[in-house]
Amino acid sequence: MSTTLITGIGELVTNDPARAEGGGLLGLVHDAAVVVEGSRVAWIGRAVDAPAADVQVDAGGRAVVPGFVDSHSHLVFAGDRSAEFEARMTGEPYTAGGIRTTVAATRAATDEQLTSHVARLVAEMRAQGTTSVEIKSGYGLSVHDEARSLAVARQFTDDTTFLGAHVVPAGTTPEDYVDLVTGPMLAAAAPHARWIDVFCEDGAFDVDQARTILATGSDSGLRGRLHANQLTYGGGVRLACELGLVAVDHCTFLSDDDVSALASSGTIATLLPGVEFSTRQPYPDARRLLDAGVRIALASDCNPGSCFTSSMALCIALAVREMRMSPAEALHAATAMGAAALDRDDVGVLAPGKVADLVLLDAPSHVHLAYRPGVPLVAGVWQSGRPVVAR
Ligand code: NIG
Ligand code: FE
Repeated sequence: MSTTLITGIGELVTNDPARAEGGGLLGLVHDAAVVVEGSRVAWIGRAVDAPAADVQVDAGGRAVVPGFVDSHSHLVFAGDRSAEFEARMTGEPYTAGGIRTTVAATRAATDEQLTSHVARLVAEMRAQGTTSVEIKSGYGLSVHDEARSLAVARQFTDDTTFLGAHVVPAGTTPEDYVDLVTGPMLAAAAPHARWIDVFCEDGAFDVDQARTILATGSDSGLRGRLHANQLTYGGGVRLACELGLVAVDHCTFLSDDDVSALASSGTIATLLPGVEFSTRQPYPDARRLLDAGVRIALASDCNPGSCFTSSMALCIALAVREMRMSPAEALHAATAMGAAALDRDDVGVLAPGKVADLVLLDAPSHVHLAYRPGVPLVAGVWQSGRPVVAR
C-alpha cells in the first residue's frame, strides 16, 4: 500500500484524547507530520521524527484539522425556496409548512435529477472540508418517494436517515399518515437507512407520535434521532433523553429540565446555528449547555427551507461569535462530536488506525476558521487517504 507523508504542519488538530495533556481539547501537535497508508492514518508525531514515505507533501507551516463530520443534512430535494427566505428577511416567520413546497418539487424530479443535485451539494461540502455527511429523506413523504430519496442518499453515505415523519403531507390525516410511516413506508425505507428521525414540533409531529414512530423504527433495526425544540418549548428533547438516543438536534428552546435531562442522559445536543442565522431566531445557548456538562455537536442542517448553507466553517464561526463557544470547542463539536453524534469512532479524530480524512487550512491555526468568517480557507482535503481537493 502506498504511503504519503504530510509534513511541515504548523499546527495539527488530532482530537485524540491520548494527546489531550499539553494539547488541550483538540490534542494539538505543533511542527507535526502525518503518515497516511491507504485509507488510514499510520503515524502522527513531530515532523523531525517522521518516517520516510512514498510521496511527501509539505504543508508549509499551515494548520491541518480532521475533516468536518456534518451529522445533519437534508440534501435530497428539488426546487428553490429563496422567495420564502426573502419573505422571512422582511418579517415573515419560519414555519414547518414550507416543507410541503419542496415535497411537490421533489416528487416531480427524476431519480437522475435528484442524484446529480445531491452529488453537487456533496462536492460543495467536500470543497469546504466536510468529509463525512449524514443525509436525510423527508421531502418525498410517499412510500415510493421516501424509498427512492434514501436510495439516492445511500450512493453518497452509509449514514442515511429515514425522515418520513417530516410533516403530514397534503391530502391525508395525521393518524393515517403515522400509520403509513410506521407501516409500508418504513418497510420500503428500512433497507436503505441506518437511522430514523422525526420532526417533533408544533405543526409537525407531537411527542406521542414521535415515540410511536421511533419505536417501530427500532423494531426494524433503525436507530433513532430527533429534530426537537427548534421553534418552541416542548417534550421532544426529554423524549430523546428518555429513549437514550445518541443525538437530539436543534435544541433551541430548552427548559432547565431539558438541560438536566441532556446532561444526565449523555444524549448529544446537535446545534445548527445556520438555522437561527437563516430564520432570524435566537441562537441556542451553547454556553449554558456546556456549563451543565452537555455534549454538543455542530452540523449544517443544509436544507432548502430553514438553512441552505453547506459550510461547516460558517457554523463554527456562528457558534463562536453568537453562541459563546470557544474556537476549540466549536471545531471539536464540528468534528469529533459530529462523529459521536453518528456513533462513529473511525472519523473525527486523527490517530493511527483512524480514517485519513484531513483538511489543510490556508492558515496557521484552527482559530482562523472563526477569526476569518466567510473566507475559503480550505487549501486541501484528503478523504479516506485520497487527495480530493487541492488549490
Ligand atoms: O431541520 N426542521 C425540520 N426540517 C428542516 C427544515 C425543513 C424545511 O424547511 O424544508 C430543519 O430545519
Ligand atoms: Fe433538519
